[in-house]
Amino acid sequence: MKVTVFGIGYVGLVQAAVMAEVGHDVVCVDVDQNKVDKLKQGHIPIYEPGLTPLVKSNYEAGRVDFTTDAARGIAHGEVVFIAVGTPPDEDGSADLKYVLAVAKTIAEHMDSHKIIINKSTVPVGTADKVSAKVAETLESLGKNVTFDVVSNPEFLKEGAAVNDCMRPDRIIIGTESESAEKKLRELYSPFNRNHDKIIVMDIRSAELTKYAANCMLATKISFMNEMSNIAELMGADIENVRRGIGSDPRIGYQFIYPGCGYGGSCFPKDVQALVRSATGVGYSAKVLEAVEEVNYAQKEKLFEYIMRHFGGDVKGKTVAIWGLSFKPNTDDMREASSRVLMENLWKAGAKVKAYDPEAMEETQRIYGSRDDLDLVGTKESALNGADFLVICTEWQAFRAPDFELIKEKLSSPLIFDGRNLFEPNMMLEYGLHYYAIGRGLSVKGQ
Ligand code: UDX
Repeated sequence: MKVTVFGIGYVGLVQAAVMAEVGHDVVCVDVDQNKVDKLKQGHIPIYEPGLTPLVKSNYEAGRVDFTTDAARGIAHGEVVFIAVGTPPDEDGSADLKYVLAVAKTIAEHMDSHKIIINKSTVPVGTADKVSAKVAETLESLGKNVTFDVVSNPEFLKEGAAVNDCMRPDRIIIGTESESAEKKLRELYSPFNRNHDKIIVMDIRSAELTKYAANCMLATKISFMNEMSNIAELMGADIENVRRGIGSDPRIGYQFIYPGCGYGGSCFPKDVQALVRSATGVGYSAKVLEAVEEVNYAQKEKLFEYIMRHFGGDVKGKTVAIWGLSFKPNTDDMREASSRVLMENLWKAGAKVKAYDPEAMEETQRIYGSRDDLDLVGTKESALNGADFLVICTEWQAFRAPDFELIKEKLSSPLIFDGRNLFEPNMMLEYGLHYYAIGRGLSVKGQ
């Protein structure tokens, strides 16, 4: 099938690559000429496992192409994805200017029926706005062409995006048009094997499904973080509590890991956006407001532990940090807990020596060169001359470090672990002072 994707960001590029891989004929359109040129040369703008070979091989095979020529893109696809960004505007609601600009462009260039698919995470009611924009533009140009607008949210996780797209748990299609549903069933049939994963519903429910999914997951995390704070004060161990409740299939083991807060491009933005749009319809989303508040506080946790340990003074200390990205297997630093920690440490007069397997360039890009930030090439070298170690991201490579070496290199044998990677008893045996989240240690000490 001939497919066009507007927006070569995270969602658009992954979606385009997997569609090309199963044989669809895909053209990607973006306004950024530099990005288009680089992609044609095989430079992928984001780090995502498996994506580079997928894009390269499909580009070489002629199944996916990149262009800034919107007219060409629109002439090409029977289905046209809108996968451009929806950044939060000042009040936290999703800004639709890019989505609506693409809708207008599509209308300006289309000469035959198009199925326009909203893939970007957009508030409930956006499909109606896209329809209105397309209709209004067509009318002003005196064009008599038909179209459908479908909501088809993505559920991909960074670090596992290719697999999530290739083997989705569900494919949500929001449409009332039978012909559009038929076309999308055909488009997604290569991804819909073994059992039917397609769930068809009205457009508004599809739009809300995306927010509800992310808000539910964020709620699980904030709930567990709240439990971890309570556990700490009550002398319980959240890791035991986690195992104890996860065994109930109604709760489940997934997404109940306490830590130094959730980040990324989706949870913080989507929770905020749903709070705002609920307010817009006269509803105050109290649970979601609390989810956000708990997460905000949780990102301060590591710094609080550190300050408590050092009696409120870390001036002149050098802090080794392992893990900067908001989660493993990505170079994405958006809303990462490490940023809150580093910025707090800098304000308090400490220096940071940091290592991340993928996010070093991105960190450099965000913070530039500064005297109090030293980005180093290995986790071991981050320990050189450091006073203590903080772990912000649970990369696999941090799970079994050389504890003797850590102890030897740090001036204080001290680890603050924001992802609960180690067993406190084992740390004690190594003679390391260990703080984790919700394990009682930050209150009791050792
Ligand atoms: C999320 C959703 O999982 C995905 O379905 C949606 O399409 C986009 O948003 P992503 O942002 O890539 O994906 O990351 P995810 O793996 O969900 O993790 C988000 C954050 O939650 C990370 O900072 C992670 O460290 C944190 N997290 C996750 C926890 O703190 N505890 C957990 O138990 C799980």
